[in-house]
Amino acid sequence: MRLILLGAPGAGKGTQAAFICQKYGIPQISTGDMLRAAVKAGTPLGLQAKGVMESGGLVSDDLIINLVKERIAQPDCANGFLFDGFPRTLPQAEAMKQAGVKLDYVLEIDVPFDAIIERMSGRRSHPASGRTYHVKFNPPKTEGQDDVTGEPLVQRDDDKEETVRKRLDVYNDQTRPLVDYYSQWAAKEPAAAPKYRAISGTGTVEEITARALAALGD
Ligand code: AP5
Ligand code: ZN
Repeated sequence: MRLILLGAPGAGKGTQAAFICQKYGIPQISTGDMLRAAVKAGTPLGLQAKGVMESGGLVSDDLIINLVKERIAQPDCANGFLFDGFPRTLPQAEAMKQAGVKLDYVLEIDVPFDAIIERMSGRRSHPASGRTYHVKFNPPKTEGQDDVTGEPLVQRDDDKEETVRKRLDVYNDQTRPLVDYYSQWAAKEPAAAPKYRAISGTGTVEEITARALAALGD
């Protein structure tokens, strides 16, 4: 299974990715998680990405495309992978097409913007694993601690309300066009293009997982 999870910041891509990856036994490729790890480690990529991420903008297409090409060449991607937060610009999507990367599905998770602000303000994450919680909607077993390792949870630097609004604007301008890109490609070239599925991302985490797995079922 090779698929893209498409959706606005805070739509629940990371949350649902964990369930989908477990079901299909595939790695989650989150460019956001990879960039946050690079920032934390202080690598050259991290140094370039840090300021852009804090401001809610997008890291340059060239950097991201190289990062993803290297990642999908790893042996654990041989049987598939899930892209979370990638592609998020038309050039990134085109680069995958040009490189001949075959995809089975594009799954869009749709959530209204007002719900997103509330989700992001309560989000807490475990940076080492990418596991994500919410203080109200998806709390950890022990407050402030990761369920698996017991390590402390953190709030992301880009989850301030002002930055969230900027990220939503960037999504509208640069990423939303991918909805048309993939749905039109699927209509025009059904044999070559990934199948396009859209689900509502409103409801409980479990309800959305059930919708996602059903959408990928045929
Ligand atoms: P990235 O890490 O990809 O962030 P994002 O797309 O903004 O998405 P989020 O991780 O914020 O949200 P999500 O959809 O994963 O939601 P989650 O499951 O956590 O990117 C960060 C930055 O890196 C970008 O701004 C950019 O600078 C850079 N970057 C990354 N990729 C790039 C690329 N390809 N090109 C260029 N730059 C790139 O859920 C959110 C919250 O809601 C959580 O608290 C969760 O517990 C809660 N929640 C989930 N589901 C539900 C539910 N059903 N009900 C209630 N709450 C829920
Ligand atoms: Zn995420």
